[in-house]
Amino acid sequence: MKELEGKVALVVGAGCIADGIGNGRATAITFAREGATVICADIDAESAENTARMIRDEGLLATSVHLDITDQNSVARVVQGVMDEHGRIDVLDNNVGIASVGGVTSLDPDEWDRVFRVNVTGVFNTMRHVIPHMADAGGGSIVNISSVASIRWSGVPYASYYASKAALNHLTRTTAAEFASSHVRVNAVLPGLMRTPMVTNVPGLADAYSSDDVEEMMRTRDRQVPMGHMGEAWDVANAALFLASDRAKYVTGLELVVDGGITLGIGKVG
Ligand SMILES: NC(=O)c1ccc[n+]([C@@H]2O[C@H](COP(=O)([O-])OP(=O)(O)OC[C@H]3O[C@@H](n4cnc5c(N)ncnc54)[C@H](O)[C@@H]3O)[C@@H](O)[C@H]2O)c1
Repeated sequence: MKELEGKVALVVGAGCIADGIGNGRATAITFAREGATVICADIDAESAENTARMIRDEGLLATSVHLDITDQNSVARVVQGVMDEHGRIDVLDNNVGIASVGGVTSLDPDEWDRVFRVNVTGVFNTMRHVIPHMADAGGGSIVNISSVASIRWSGVPYASYYASKAALNHLTRTTAAEFASSHVRVNAVLPGLMRTPMVTNVPGLADAYSSDDVEEMMRTRDRQVPMGHMGEAWDVANAALFLASDRAKYVTGLELVVDGGITLGIGKVG
């Protein structure tokens, strides 16, 4: 028996910022391999469709849809569309997240707002529209992709990322508490330093690490991890799979750290 057999999963941010496998794409593929029908939603419709096609090429079930997580109407439309087509949403994976380099005194206030709109308000939007359907159906599982940046300084000055991911953690906990009696489980995954296309696509990140030298940034990130190397998107996907599945049926409000030991505080920073 597969872990998500017969379930309908909406993965928001199921595309990838560049060619390759990011956390959202890996999660959508993993859910499908475990038997779910996956709806791949993304503001980049072409990228979402690429993920869905990769899944269908394996003979598995997936469709794609355009969704802007910051837009209430867009989220409402997609959720209603999934309900009309499938009659249920068992799993919601909120993978969308953006980072903008800049500390408190250097970050443009508009950037601060943009990051919060995507990383926090976006998740509020999707949960707001999906939870009533889950509650009506007797339960469901929501997985919010946060970051270890929500609980510690990572060496990069990105104030809005730290603060928005911390807000996401608490939104996760309090929503878990509010809907526990409806059996809507709400958990977070906190990835550490992952080797995904996102890392090389955050403007200014390589500069913040190592004078814009991407290879040196990657070596530095590997050195920062007690296990000696960054994780991969599949590590995030497997954590999300556990939380999405019935194996985690008594787990809610958890922050599941997936970081090769970074938050143990024994890695070398820099
Ligand atoms: N890669 C890492 O090292 C790392 C570490 C910790 C946490 N994370 C978290 O993982 C998540 C992303 O991982 P990924 O590898 O899939 O990144 P990614 O950037 O490849 O994928 C994110 C997807 O979100 C989409 N998106 C952006 N804005 C959107 C919007 N307004 N509406 C809908 N979709 C939108 C993008 O088009 C993209 O396809 C984020 O939440 C990030 O904070 C990543």
